[in-house]
Amino acid sequence: MKKIASLTLDGKTYELPVVIGSEGETAIDISKARKETGFITLDPGFANTGSCQSSITFMDGQKGILRYRGIPVEQLSEHSTFVETAYLLINGELPTRKELSRFSIMLNDHSLVHEDMRAFFENFPKRAHPMGILSSMVNALRAFYPELPERSDEEEINITFARLLSKVRTMAAMSYKMSLGHKVIYPRHDLTYCANFLNMMFDSPVRPYVIDEDLVKVLEVFWILHADHEQNCSTAAVRLVGSARVNLYAAISAGIAALWGPLHGGANQAVIEMLQQIYDNGGDPAPFIVRAKDKNDTFRLMGFGHSIYKTYDPRARIMEKTCHKLLEKLNRDDPLLDIARRLEEVAVKDSYFIDHNLYPNIDFYSGIVLRAIGIPLDMFTVMFAIGRLPGWISQWKESIDDPKWKLHRPRQIYIGPKMRDYIPIDERS
Ligand code: SDX
Repeated sequence: MKKIASLTLDGKTYELPVVIGSEGETAIDISKARKETGFITLDPGFANTGSCQSSITFMDGQKGILRYRGIPVEQLSEHSTFVETAYLLINGELPTRKELSRFSIMLNDHSLVHEDMRAFFENFPKRAHPMGILSSMVNALRAFYPELPERSDEEEINITFARLLSKVRTMAAMSYKMSLGHKVIYPRHDLTYCANFLNMMFDSPVRPYVIDEDLVKVLEVFWILHADHEQNCSTAAVRLVGSARVNLYAAISAGIAALWGPLHGGANQAVIEMLQQIYDNGGDPAPFIVRAKDKNDTFRLMGFGHSIYKTYDPRARIMEKTCHKLLEKLNRDDPLLDIARRLEEVAVKDSYFIDHNLYPNIDFYSGIVLRAIGIPLDMFTVMFAIGRLPGWISQWKESIDDPKWKLHRPRQIYIGPKMRDYIPIDERS
């Protein structure tokens, strides 16, 4: 039996359809409400408003559940690879052996960056932030590669997706090497996606990089955990910009720009800067907890809290375990891990954090993992962006395939001055 919601305004009752998702989530469909009632709804930040119905990722913020196409992220991080997870997100099913091999070959065939793009890298100021470079370079890809025509065939679409997934990884490593003035290391056909990235980042003519499969696995897990997260800020940006039917590169470039923010993907870099500050101040997290609770202080505990998770972010648990195992394997102590653990211990027992449902999110431990791998701090959010690419691509694809797809154009309530006349400049006070 169809569920409906009743809305009474000025004595008149309107019936609005209720939408129920496959996991029992419920929504009131207000798409016709403005036409019927003359009212719009208001929801700053869209915290209570669904922008779409999606089959890609399911999250339960109360139970700390995250599944990609129905598969728990815990199982994918244990058994899958980043490339296989990317295929799952984009195509909806795990690939057969044949499909996976074909996808891997496509990623390899499109892993080189057009040589003319090197001039772009050479002309960025040395201190340019890698996220700014990445967003510009992804937008520039459209100048070198064709846009997906309105009615593209499967092959063209898959090549465009593979091109983005593969070239963005190559560009990130290339940008790092060029920032050091070092020789650019090219992708190799005999290495997997993740191993190739590590090799392009750390190989050198004078010190050949030895691929460590444990580190490759850590990177697989890191990127699987970042691969998608339903309608987060940067994915919403990709869908919104994509709704104007702009090319995919421009829509992804908008996602990278949104992810750069310290409240979003920039948090992994901000967490390390915060932990380093605590370390430099003697290692006691208490003053930072006091500041985080102080309403008059804009400081927030980086890596804590989440718009959806009101319990532990399931990705943070996996990241913490991965971090611990990695440091053990490298036989390395990171004082920032001890500080992070102490900070978490104090915060999760503090009534402020308990009352506000603030727990560690994915960014709280991810930076320590990246440090242990040797990724430079200003590339941490780039690592998040490479991981989130399959999510952005799958969400963009789902939006353009949606028969109900339309240009995103939110409304507003105007609260400015009422109608008034123009005043000539000499008559203004
Ligand atoms: C990501 O959406 C996604 O899925 C994002 C992401 C993904 O995979 O795409 O998961 C990745 O962006 C993770 C979040 C990374 N950001 C940070 O770690 C930055 C620190 N965290 C916060 O700024 C904050 O927790 C947000 C922005 C992440 C979430 O904030 P909310 O819950 O949407 O809403 P809010 O900002 O209004 O906070 C509610 C209350 C406020 O207090 P009151 O005014 O109600 O008294 O909680 C407080 C906030 O002040 N609060 C914090 C806090 N986070 C929220 N107080 C101190 N420290 C914090 N970290």
